Amino acid sequence: MCGIVGYTGTQNAAPALLEGLKKLEYRGYDSAGIAVLENGRISVSKVTGRIAGLEEKTEGGALLPGTTGIGHTRWATHGAPTEPNAHPHASNDGRFVVVHNGIIENYMELKQELLAKGYRFESETDTEVVAHLVEMYYRGDLKSAVMRTAARLRGSYALGIICAEEPDTVIVVREASPLILGVGIGENFFASDVTALVAYTRNAIYLEDGEFAKLTPDGISVFDCTGHEIEKKISRITWDIQAAEKGGYDHFMLKEIMEQPRAVKAAIAPRLHGSEIVLDDTDIDLTGIRKIVITACGSAYYAGCAAKYAIEALCRIPVTTELASELRYSDPLMGEDTLVIVLSQSGETADSIAALRECKSRGARALAIVNVVGSTIAKIADWCLYTWAGPEIAVATTKGYTTQLTVLYLFALYAGRKLKTVDDASYRKLLSCLKSLPKLLQQALDMNPEIPRLAKKYHRADSMFFIGRNTDYAVALEGALKMKEISYIHAESYAAGELKHGTIALMHDGQPVIALCCNDAITEKTMSNIVEVKARGAEVLAVAHRENSKILSLADDMIFVPRVHPLLSAAVEIVPLQLLAYYVAKENNCDIDKPKNLAKSVTVE
Ligand code: M6R
Repeated sequence: MCGIVGYTGTQNAAPALLEGLKKLEYRGYDSAGIAVLENGRISVSKVTGRIAGLEEKTEGGALLPGTTGIGHTRWATHGAPTEPNAHPHASNDGRFVVVHNGIIENYMELKQELLAKGYRFESETDTEVVAHLVEMYYRGDLKSAVMRTAARLRGSYALGIICAEEPDTVIVVREASPLILGVGIGENFFASDVTALVAYTRNAIYLEDGEFAKLTPDGISVFDCTGHEIEKKISRITWDIQAAEKGGYDHFMLKEIMEQPRAVKAAIAPRLHGSEIVLDDTDIDLTGIRKIVITACGSAYYAGCAAKYAIEALCRIPVTTELASELRYSDPLMGEDTLVIVLSQSGETADSIAALRECKSRGARALAIVNVVGSTIAKIADWCLYTWAGPEIAVATTKGYTTQLTVLYLFALYAGRKLKTVDDASYRKLLSCLKSLPKLLQQALDMNPEIPRLAKKYHRADSMFFIGRNTDYAVALEGALKMKEISYIHAESYAAGELKHGTIALMHDGQPVIALCCNDAITEKTMSNIVEVKARGAEVLAVAHRENSKILSLADDMIFVPRVHPLLSAAVEIVPLQLLAYYVAKENNCDIDKPKNLAKSVTVE
């Protein structure tokens, strides 16, 4: 995720900007830049790679003198991690320079409009439209120009903007992206994260959506979206730096679990154009495709297992899921009639790369769904859809998984529409459900305050079983993996109907069984399995809709999930299981963000 900082005061701005950016490094980034205003001129310096490179290039900021400036760390979404795509971005006349955190959803249409008016674009980013719009609207007052610009933008943004003609002034505006103002003495700051502020001030103003602010060394004025000045409370920052880097959460994993509504929104919103799904610049050629093979490792593989149901239902093409480490050595039967979909958060997983190469060598067409822009898998595949989850730091994936699923759902609907295998009514219904996924994810996060208590009850277990059928079974696979990898408790996922073919022999008094019962069409059957394991002494924790009163009377404990269309339900159902694994691991004092023996990116076989 990108980070932004800004300074106006009496000291040179560049060193403070560089220090602020360093504090944002933990968020992950692939390029960085700063812009400083001095004597009616703005100088910009950018690098790909580390802030250390930017420090070197600017000689610790000395090459960019001036007391007002803005800075940015970029995590590539629109366009590869290159210097032209790095922020800050300047207007064509160089008078306006902008940094941006978020995604401008309607940037393509704004870009067309600006191109038609003769503006030149130097980058592939969505942000650059902002610099040109501000130039277009400027009539001697930066704040008014930014207000007119913001009125044209759709999406999420925290913007910091400086103008060569307005010394000592920074204008900021926020909409659905974090933006905090730091109140100093004779100097003022802004940042996307308090981490970048605490070294300078502990007095902060938190902007709300739609609010603007004008920062000068002498003060900060805040305005509502109509331009009326408003009073804002100054809050005291009490976090220490370490906690602040995790946004106040104890672990990155919890922070990333909580980020899921926003991450899923970022994956969906830019791809919905009215009632049509537009998959980036990618026109995926499905002509003659007779089978789809999804391949990946770990959680990414389980995302594929869950999405298989949606793709088959909507596209009427058989889908098989193959572990990449198996597929690569399996002499796979495929050819030009096969679409292989490779899922990978990192885009660098060795087995997934090898499986992709193997499939391509047999003539299959390849679609990659990855999070890291410019990664190997993204480059090798014929088409790539990014998940836009932002950097994932905890080894155990959470938002990586849910955004992979989300993009697979988008693909299933898009392909079903294209192949005419989904009727209009179902398409509209599923599209509306897809749009509500961020809200449903938030509900799933909010509706289970009991999970820490349940973790206290179950954390001493030697083993756990996760059971379910159909899409619930696919979620059980991922739920069990989460439990194993961070709590070190043996966890086995089982198709509920398979229990009596052997595994039920393992049931004994107090054996925890997590039973997923969210798919109405098959829940009755899973409930029979709950009765069977309870008869053998198991302690059942059911994951179900609150309205399912029958389960309430069967299970020992309950976790609730909101009702979601069954084809899309996995993305929401997994949330309480992530939380359960997290709190169980916490009870067991495990190293949650860096579990033993595991690496974030498995680049070796
Ligand atoms: O980067 P990738 O998505 O290709 O990684 C695949 C697996 O290594 C990854 O999902 C792994 O299973 C995680 N530890 C799960 O939390």
